[in-house]
Amino acid sequence: MFGLWKTWKALEARGIMGINRRNADYVLKYNKRSLYPIVDDKIITKERAIAAGIHVPELYGVISTEKEIDNLSEIIGGRTDFVVKPAQGAGGDGILVIADRFEGRYRTVSGKIISHEEIEHQISSILTGLYSLGGHRDRALIEYRVTPDQIFKSISYEGVPDIRIIVLMGYPVMAMLRLPTRQSGGKANLHQGAIGVGVDLATGLTLRGTWLNNIINKHPDTTNAVDGVQLPYWDGFMKLAAGCYELCGLGYIGVDMVLDQEKGPLILELNARPGLNIQIANDCGLTLRTHAVEARLEELQARGIIETVQERVEFVQEMFGHIPAVEG
Ligand SMILES: Nc1ncnc2c1ncn2[C@@H]1O[C@H](COP(=O)(O)OP(=O)(O)O)[C@@H](O)[C@H]1O
Ligand SMILES: [Mg+2]
Repeated sequence: MFGLWKTWKALEARGIMGINRRNADYVLKYNKRSLYPIVDDKIITKERAIAAGIHVPELYGVISTEKEIDNLSEIIGGRTDFVVKPAQGAGGDGILVIADRFEGRYRTVSGKIISHEEIEHQISSILTGLYSLGGHRDRALIEYRVTPDQIFKSISYEGVPDIRIIVLMGYPVMAMLRLPTRQSGGKANLHQGAIGVGVDLATGLTLRGTWLNNIINKHPDTTNAVDGVQLPYWDGFMKLAAGCYELCGLGYIGVDMVLDQEKGPLILELNARPGLNIQIANDCGLTLRTHAVEARLEELQARGIIETVQERVEFVQEMFGHIPAVEG
């Protein structure tokens, strides 16, 4: 804990963004309320992405009422793996990642065996709003289970690592690779116990990591180094993230992406209030970068220019990229 406190103090001098500033100067300023449902409901996000030609995990079915729970078997069909999640969930809560079947039951990605009735019960809880923002009634979605690309084998434990990029008005400002651990139960959410690893925007090379409020260089389960790893398709991920501004219209978002073994890069979800720990993993404050983008936007506006996705990505890579690897 002390280590983290010292880190935040050191980052303060380097433009750290706190929760109040994030909310007032970014979330409230750039995210129009009426557009929130596009990112707060994963079913709507999926529809938008598909319409924009952006790839997402395939939707097998939606369950909206208690009665529709009877459709579960039909939705699953002969599949042996799939994911159940609350449409309006957050932080990885309420998500069930089924990896296999086992003697009439199911095996979750972390090895737990559960029955069909238990899945039905979970869906029922989702519908009542147990996991939804504000406790509102929710819908459950059943979707394709992502199998992570081989590249992540050595630096990940079970589950699916995801890539989070914070995007301001279409400009990616900071990136992080999130690695599930034994503790996080196959989910890549930091507060479930996943590791966050900073990523250089220009090269896609990983920097250092943060885990349970500590700074780390090795994965606690695999003991392999988490820094210095080259992420594949890096420019593709950057463009995918930048293009999510046009997809949703929200000016300050966290874009979560995964690399599927078969389908390649996919958008998992968008967040209107992205977390701040990404700054620790990158050893850099967000405002240092958001201010640079805001200055750029002002300058472009004065000249009547709107940049394309390609130009925006080139700008940030030039401006914020090429971070030398950290020692130790
Ligand atoms: N389709 C999927 N296949 C495999 N793992 C998934 C899938 N969807 C989510 N997960 C795992 O659960 C985590 C949280 O999922 P996400 O859709 O981002 O919901 P939340 O809003 O709760 O963060 C992901 O980072 C990933 O590790
Ligand atoms: Mg998420």
